[in-house]
Order: sequence, then structure tokens, then C-alpha cells
Amino acid sequence: MVKFKEKIIITSALPYANGPLHIGHLVEYIQTDIFVRFLRLIDKDIVYCCADDTHGTPIGIKAKELGIKPEQLIARFFKEHQEDFKNFHIKFDSYYTTNSRENKHFSDLIFEKIKKKGLIYKKEIEVTYCENCKRTLPDRYVKGKCPKCNAPDQYGDVCEVCNATYKTVDLIDSYCTICKNKPVRKKSEHYFFKLSALSGFLEKWIKKNKNLQQETKNFVLNWIKQGLEDWNISRDGPYFGFKIPNEENKYYYVWLDAPIGYISSLANYLNNDTKKAEKAWNNSKIIHFIGKDITYFHFLFWPAMLHAADFKLPEDIVVHGFLTVNNEKMSKSRGTFFTAKDFLKKYDAEHLRYYYANVLSKKLADIDLNLNEFKERINNELVGNLGNFCYRITSFVNKNFNGEIKNIDNNKTIINEINNRINKIKDYYNDLNFNAAVNGILQISDIGNKYFQKNEPWALIKKDKKKVQEICALCVNIAKNLNILIQPVLPKFSEELQKQLNLKELKWKDIGFELKNHKIGKEKLLVRKIEESKEELFPLNLKVAKIAEVKDHPNADKLYVIQINLGTEKRQLVAGLKDFYNKEELKNKKIIVVTNLKRAKLRNVESQGMLLAAEDNKGNVGLLTTKSEPGDEVKFGNLKNSNKEISFDNFKKLKITAKNKKVYFNDLELKTDKDTVSYGNIKDGKVC
Ligand code: MSP
Ligand code: ZN
Repeated sequence: MVKFKEKIIITSALPYANGPLHIGHLVEYIQTDIFVRFLRLIDKDIVYCCADDTHGTPIGIKAKELGIKPEQLIARFFKEHQEDFKNFHIKFDSYYTTNSRENKHFSDLIFEKIKKKGLIYKKEIEVTYCENCKRTLPDRYVKGKCPKCNAPDQYGDVCEVCNATYKTVDLIDSYCTICKNKPVRKKSEHYFFKLSALSGFLEKWIKKNKNLQQETKNFVLNWIKQGLEDWNISRDGPYFGFKIPNEENKYYYVWLDAPIGYISSLANYLNNDTKKAEKAWNNSKIIHFIGKDITYFHFLFWPAMLHAADFKLPEDIVVHGFLTVNNEKMSKSRGTFFTAKDFLKKYDAEHLRYYYANVLSKKLADIDLNLNEFKERINNELVGNLGNFCYRITSFVNKNFNGEIKNIDNNKTIINEINNRINKIKDYYNDLNFNAAVNGILQISDIGNKYFQKNEPWALIKKDKKKVQEICALCVNIAKNLNILIQPVLPKFSEELQKQLNLKELKWKDIGFELKNHKIGKEKLLVRKIEESKEELFPLNLKVAKIAEVKDHPNADKLYVIQINLGTEKRQLVAGLKDFYNKEELKNKKIIVVTNLKRAKLRNVESQGMLLAAEDNKGNVGLLTTKSEPGDEVKFGNLKNSNKEISFDNFKKLKITAKNKKVYFNDLELKTDKDTVSYGNIKDGKVC
């Protein structure tokens, strides 16, 4: 029988079941997983729970669009999410779904308990209803002109132009985003949770909790000070969710049953025994990990619900910031939006775990994935320092001592230096300062590398083989310690290294310098470097050029011979533009030129490259132009341009498209550092 008293329940926020996971989500799951693995390593009793968040309007509507049942949609993502988690070594004790019997049970239970306390009341409100779609429309499904600034196409809750907030009914010329018809106003009765009545309790709870981050406390307390509004916890059907007992067409709002999913996931872990789960929940320490966008729900609604329903409140709620890539929001057109699956096409899961550990601490600040720094860190630190030390020592011991170590070099300076760091690393992990923990680990491996190097064992071995074996024994001990220290961040790396060291199930308590008279296993490379892979290269070398001079081709009716300026170089092109532009129009235009195309003679005149133009299906042609300067590089997203010569046949195989006045290759937009690239007044088409 498990004693729940000693258990710690840890959760990550439940991802929505209507889309794939991306590397932004992974910040949270990797952060939580590292913490969980650390706590297991120091022998704490943990249950790590999560689930798919399956209810709500977007899921219902998306399923309808796809012509499938919501149950089918959520089943698809349930599978996909679990694959992604597995690939990134995120190991839950329970991964469940909010669309479960247990979650219905706990939602009803909590709803009833709160109702009995007089904290739920019914009130008639005005909603926006689409008579064509026959549904009430939430904020995000109504658009119209902002009532403050008149900006068109604004959502029903906030204007993205002037930042005004308002009610959906205040929108001017509103329309349903599903069918574009004008919605009507309708009265509807809804259930409200008296959050206002609990504001005193919430204030006290937040103030006295010593674990919560101060930054978060400050602005949650500020929300409370400004006055809390009661919370509408019901939605009209059609709605994919749980029906409210004794109601015909009313459902719990998804944010009511979503956090209850934490408890249901625990029940799933406990053989679906809801009684046991309730007891376990109330006898455990609970720690939630969330992103800053869902603070309101987790610091106000959720604790208020738990308190009102006599459930235990969390010990801590760890809030992390949002992910940016190269200091900007992730973006498809810049090539910086990676789903979990896309990421693995280019890099290893542990590359990301390592990088995130390096930038994570118990801070609210956004964290940045800088793709250059990412590569440097992996290649220099993970591979060059940590991986290199371990590989170097195991291969040396195998080569010179048949894998055997005997006595250990009792170098007190080295051992003390390392022990000092180890103690700190434990605190860093405990306080969620993973960046400091990794830094400490690298310092230890650096000490190991320098110690090995300084002793020049490859030379010393000719004079004092016994001494060298002792030096190696100390290094094997360092590698073993590194293995334990890095386990939370790099579980696969550690597993593999343990095999090579011929050790098993290492725990934090195995850290030390006692390993001797031991035979290690065969060495193998532990991590791979990030190479400049082919995928990152675009086969063309594109530059901005200014047209200096245009002449008729001496031997062809439709061709011009054009002199261009490429900044540091001048070239001559032959181009078939005569039907579309006269000479004056072309002069001084700043165009885009393929500079690495194999040179060719066209009717006896050499063409040293090719200019790019868009062509629509009626045969109209528009030159690609930009405001950038001659010589500037032109790139698709962050793909690097290749310098290798390309043949015309291979050039023709590339699918470059012209859409909405912009130019794309695989969703990546063509740009220079200063400006975008556009084309004249023709329809969408292809670029050639
Ligand atoms: N379903 C809700 C959570 C319910 S919890 C009872 C939800 N889902 S989500 O899929 O949008 O996000 C899941 C978690 O990932 C959230 O904690 C969210 O903050 C986090 N992130 C989503 N995008 C993120 C980034 N770009 N960067 C960092 N974290 C991000 O919210
Ligand atoms: Zn509609």
C-alpha cells in the first residue's frame, strides 16, 4: 500500500487537443520533466500527471470542419501528443484525457460542493448568437469594427489596433467568423461562480505562500485589489464538453473541467479509483507548472474552486515565460516555427533539452532560442566539453588498460573542487535554477578535461603506467558523477554513458569517488554535433542588383541584354522581357538575381546569371523588386544561400511561388535584412 503522505504530485498544463505540440509548449514539459527526474534521482516519491485538454468551442468547430466527430479529433491528437512526449523523453506517470468518466465525476462533485456552499448562482446575460450556425458565439468567433477606433476585423474581446477591451455586443457591423452572417443578441441564463466572495481568502493564500514567485504574486494581488468579477462557468450547446446535471442544453465551460483534469489524471494513475484519488490529492504536496498566459486561471479560479470544494490547494505554482526564437515570436514565414516533429527532422531531442536547461530558471522572463547560440552551445559545450571528456576517458581506459581501473589517484584538490560544485548543483536543481546547474556541471567536466590534459597520460604511460591508471580511475569517477548530475537534463545520454561505464541505476546517493577495481564497457560517441545540414541551405544564391543599362539583343526579338550592378561587381544578363517592359521602365530598377546559375550563351551573348520574375496563369509577368541596396543578400526565411553553381535544369525544379504580393519557398518568405520582395500588379502565380 502506497503511503500518500510522502507523495509529491507534479503537473504540467494540459495541452489543447486541437493541434500539434510545438517547441513553445516543450519549454514547459521539458522544464517540468527535468524537475521530476531530479526529484526521483534524490529518491522523492513523485507522481507526474498530465492530460489532453479536450473540451471547448474550438475543438467542436474544428471537428465539424474536418467532417469528423470531436471524439475522433481528440483521439488523433492524444496519440500524436504522446508520441511527441516520448520522443522528447518526457515521462509522465499518468497521461490522461479530460474527456473521461473520472473527470466528469470530479467536475460534478466539485460543482455540487461549491453550489451547496451558496457560491454558485444563476443570472441572465446577453450573448451573441448566430442564427445560421445555430450557436452562441464566443469572443473569438465574432469579428467586427472596434467600437473605439473603428479598425476593421477585430475580435469580440479586444482590439489589436488600439488595445481597447469591450464586450462582443459592442462591436460595430459584427459578423460570425464561421459563416460571415450577422449574429443577433440573445438572452441566456448562465451559472456564475462567486469569485468575488473569495477574494479575501485568495489574497491571504497568495500572501502567505512562500514558494510562489514574487513577480507573479505582485500582479495577482493587483488583480485582486482591482476587484474580482464573478466567473461564468457554463456555456450553451452545441458545445463539446460535460453537460451540467439537470440542464437541457448547458455545459461546463472548458476552464472549469480542465484543471480538474489534474485530479482525474491522478485517478487514472490509481487504477481509476476516484475515492483513492481524492484522498491521495488531499494528502500530497501539489506543484503545478504553467505558462504565464494562464496565470489568472491557476492563481484565482483554480484555488478558489479547490478551496470552496474542500480540496487541497497547491504548494507551489511555477510560472515560466514564453518562447521566442531569435528574439521574435515564432513565425512560419521566418522559418522559426517548429512543431515537435519538425524539430526532430533537424536536431536531436536532447539538443533542445540541453539548450532549454541552459536558459531556464525560476523566472517569469521570456526565454529565447537563438539558433546560432543553440548550435554553438551544442557543439562546444555539450559535445566539445561534456561529451568529449566522457568519450576521451572511456576510450583511453579501453585502449590502454583493457577497460580496467584499480586504485584512484587521491588528488584532494580536484576532489574538493568537484564536491563543492556538486553541493551547489543540488540546490540549483531544487530551486529550479537549471541554468546554474548546467553551468556547474560544465565546470566539473572542464576540471576533468584539464586534469587529464595536464597529466599527459599518453606520455606518462611510458614511464609510470600505474600512476596513469590511477589518474584514469579518478577520471572515470568524475565521468560517473557527471552522469548522475546531468541525468535530469539528458536521460538518454546518461543511460548510454552508464552502459559504457558498466554501471546501473545510478542515483544521487551514488555520487562520490569510491569506484575502483572496476571494468568499464565499450566506448561510443554519446552526442552528435549539429552540422550545417543540407536542409538549411537553399540551392540558389540570390542578391539584389540594380539595372544600369538595357539594350536590344542583336540576334533575338524578345530579348534584352542588361547590365547590372551587384554592389561589388558588375554583370551582364540576357532576359526575355521585351514583351512586358520597355527599356526606360527597367532602368534603375532594383531586382533579384540568381548569381550562382551556370553561365550560358543565349543566341551568342553571354548571360552571367538570371533575374527573377513572377508569372500568373494568364502569362503576365512582374519582375521581383525590393527597396534594398545592390549586393544585399536575399533569403527565404533563415535558409542560407548556397554558393555552389546550379544548372538551369535544377533551377527549374524549385517551386517558388508568388502570393499576395509576396514570394515564398515552402512557406518561407523571401526577404533581405531591410525589406521584403514584391512583384508588380499581376495575379498570384509562380516565380521563374
Ligand atoms: N489547455 C490549456 C491549459 C489547461 S491547464 C488546466 C492551455 N493549453 S495550451 O496548449 O495552449 O498550452 C499548454 C501550456 O504550454 C501552457 O502552460 C502554455 O503557457 C504553454 N505554452 C504554449 N505556448 C508557449 C510558448 N510559445 N512558450 C512557452 N510556453 C507556451 O493553455
Ligand atoms: Zn455563423
